Amino acid sequence: MDQTVVLITGCSSGIGLSLAVRLASDPSKIYKVYATMRDLAKKKRLMDCVKDSHKDTMDVLQMDITHHQSILDVRDGIKEKRVDILVCNAGVGLVGPLESQSMEMMRQILEVNVLGTIRTIQTFLPGMKARGSGRVLVTGSIGGLQGLPFNEIYCASKFAVEGVCESLAILLQHFNIHVSLIECGPVNTDFLANLRRTEPGDASLSQADARTRALYATYLQHCDTMFQDAAQEAGDIVQVRVTKGRKIPGNSPFHGKVNWGISKLFQVGNFPWELTGIYGD
Ligand SMILES: NC(=O)c1ccc[n+]([C@@H]2O[C@H](COP(=O)([O-])OP(=O)(O)OC[C@H]3O[C@@H](n4cnc5c(N)ncnc54)[C@H](OP(=O)(O)O)[C@@H]3O)[C@@H](O)[C@H]2O)c1
Repeated sequence: MDQTVVLITGCSSGIGLSLAVRLASDPSKIYKVYATMRDLAKKKRLMDCVKDSHKDTMDVLQMDITHHQSILDVRDGIKEKRVDILVCNAGVGLVGPLESQSMEMMRQILEVNVLGTIRTIQTFLPGMKARGSGRVLVTGSIGGLQGLPFNEIYCASKFAVEGVCESLAILLQHFNIHVSLIECGPVNTDFLANLRRTEPGDASLSQADARTRALYATYLQHCDTMFQDAAQEAGDIVQVRVTKGRKIPGNSPFHGKVNWGISKLFQVGNFPWELTGIYGD
């Protein structure tokens, strides 16, 4: 029986790594995983996790989703010459008052989260359309459904991804290609360590007024702890993906909200502003 070919972006850590390990280690060996990461120097962590159980089930390839040629090289290097399930997972966060963000930094985030995701889908879509089958799973965020203070650009990027995927999902039904968005709340990964964050001593913070700086200081004091309190494990997200990958397209909903824990971070009592009206209980 042919293996199901799965390509995953952002497998050096977190959700991408966990998903690659889960699928490559599946005892049935029904998946062939192309685990991609932009820096192969980070490959060891993934290899340590799969141990010896991946010989016929996983290849690790270099792919930076901000470089079109690197996506094309991966596409052309796939032995099976097809991708059955495309998992657009790579992404990066950005935290800080809007006034402190440089155009360059905002561009970088949008380049990865929005254009990188679009470019990846664009590259693999023609093959799926030609075959008349495929699954596209995208790591969205609760931050793509509701705004989160000091996360304006990150949320803008994830809102944009929602728009792209919702639009595509309608069209792609005609090609038997099913699109799903997994809208994660906080997940225990390297996300917090990797996100670009305005630090209290950064000169750029002087662009924000004193009241905003004070609110941001409160946010920073509480955010990491509360994020960790509300976070779920990457394995929980992986299970949603595996289930979505298997479901019959007609029965698989487009949205997959995984954890609304982030809403709790912004409730009255946690921070000195009232947002419960927006986010609900
Ligand atoms: N963790 C959460 O709480 C949470 C919540 C909602 C949504 N999400 C979303 O979940 C996805 C996965 O994040 P995670 O939580 O697993 O965090 P993570 O551990 O930081 O993983 C992010 C992955 O994306 C990769 N990446 C970043 N820029 C890239 C690029 N230009 N090309 C290719 N890969 C790139 C990173 O590679 P490097 O190691 O090279 O940087 C890393 O492998 C992201 O889209 C994130 O927005 C996470």
